Amino acid sequence: MSEKTGLSPETLAAQALGWIDEKTKAIVPPLHLSSTFVRDEDNQYRSGRGYIRADNPSFDQVEALLSALEGGSGSLVFGSGMAAATAVFLALKPGDHVIAPRVMYWSLRNWLANAARAWGLEVEFVAMDDPGALRAAARPGRTKLIWIETPANPLWTITDIAAAAEVARSCGARLAVDSTAATPVLTRPLALGADVVMHSATKYLNGHSDLVAGTLTVGNDDEYWQRLKSVRAQHGAMLGSFEAWLLLRGMRTLFLRVRHACASAQALAERFSQHPRISAVLYPGLPEFPGHAVAARQMSGGFGAMMSIRVKDGEAAAIRTAARIKLWKRATSLGGVESLVEHRASVEGAGTPAPPDLLRLSVGVEAADDLYTDLDQALRAA
Ligand SMILES: Cc1ncc(COP(=O)(O)O)c(C=O)c1O
Repeated sequence: MSEKTGLSPETLAAQALGWIDEKTKAIVPPLHLSSTFVRDEDNQYRSGRGYIRADNPSFDQVEALLSALEGGSGSLVFGSGMAAATAVFLALKPGDHVIAPRVMYWSLRNWLANAARAWGLEVEFVAMDDPGALRAAARPGRTKLIWIETPANPLWTITDIAAAAEVARSCGARLAVDSTAATPVLTRPLALGADVVMHSATKYLNGHSDLVAGTLTVGNDDEYWQRLKSVRAQHGAMLGSFEAWLLLRGMRTLFLRVRHACASAQALAERFSQHPRISAVLYPGLPEFPGHAVAARQMSGGFGAMMSIRVKDGEAAAIRTAARIKLWKRATSLGGVESLVEHRASVEGAGTPAPPDLLRLSVGVEAADDLYTDLDQALRAA
């Protein structure tokens, strides 16, 4: 329930906050393509807009909806998830100490290990599913940011958001959460004590595999929020107008898509756990999964639609299984309406936590029985 409107989040999403265009009464927003805005005669910009790199009216509705869904004070859309994530670090200062997980989205891990260190951040990677390891790494007064991802690619490791927020508070750092796999449907990190929530909106928020976008939402309109805004404007990391329009359209069906995909993922994970050709199913919704109890506490309505399976006969059998699949698409990415399968170790290369026999599955909104039958035949044929 939204505190401001008394309406459920799915109602806010379905109607994109119920806005109508004042001029035309259209229920779908217009697409603004103008790169520049006229000054008033007395040289002011009372419209609040001057140039599109800093301000784009096509962002207003999508950012307001995201803030409502996350329970935040403000949101920013970026040209990609990576642009949003790196802005969180670029808004710090060289010399700051930051802590990130060992298991996380590989491209951001590489950026932190290389470019962020070269820029001057002191980056430390810890086992984030162990609150003791995080506490030991935190340096009061020196650590400025703790970055977590939960559930985390590609093992779906769960991090306790409230516990991480407590560590962040105790050392004077901010907590930022990559909540891409959880979506605002399942988890609201700000309510659990986080300061910043990030999404690769390329995934579930948009949901149709037809754009690249990222988002940040914050709980406070403070000096750090202003720095995030200027990183976006100065680096030119903003989203295009048409992508913002598409993203809003995708978000209207977020709840329907995510709930359907989560129910299918849970059913598939349970069936795959009994499969003779699968040695392990990594999915937070299974009671035997190490992070299940924490996930059950901080996720509601499902455990996400991402899982990984380990194929019993090893790497070659995993790759053969992917090759024999017909319905699932052999492609990278996640969170679309179509189900995807990927041999993750091939993508991530050296340093990946993905064992070579692992296939990552993004469950879409097709019938779960069809998805099971297809993967089952591929596993048996491999
Ligand atoms: C969890 C997670 N975070 C961040 C990103 C980066 O997002 P983008 O590809 O939109 O830059 C991805 C992309 O796969 C992701 O899966």
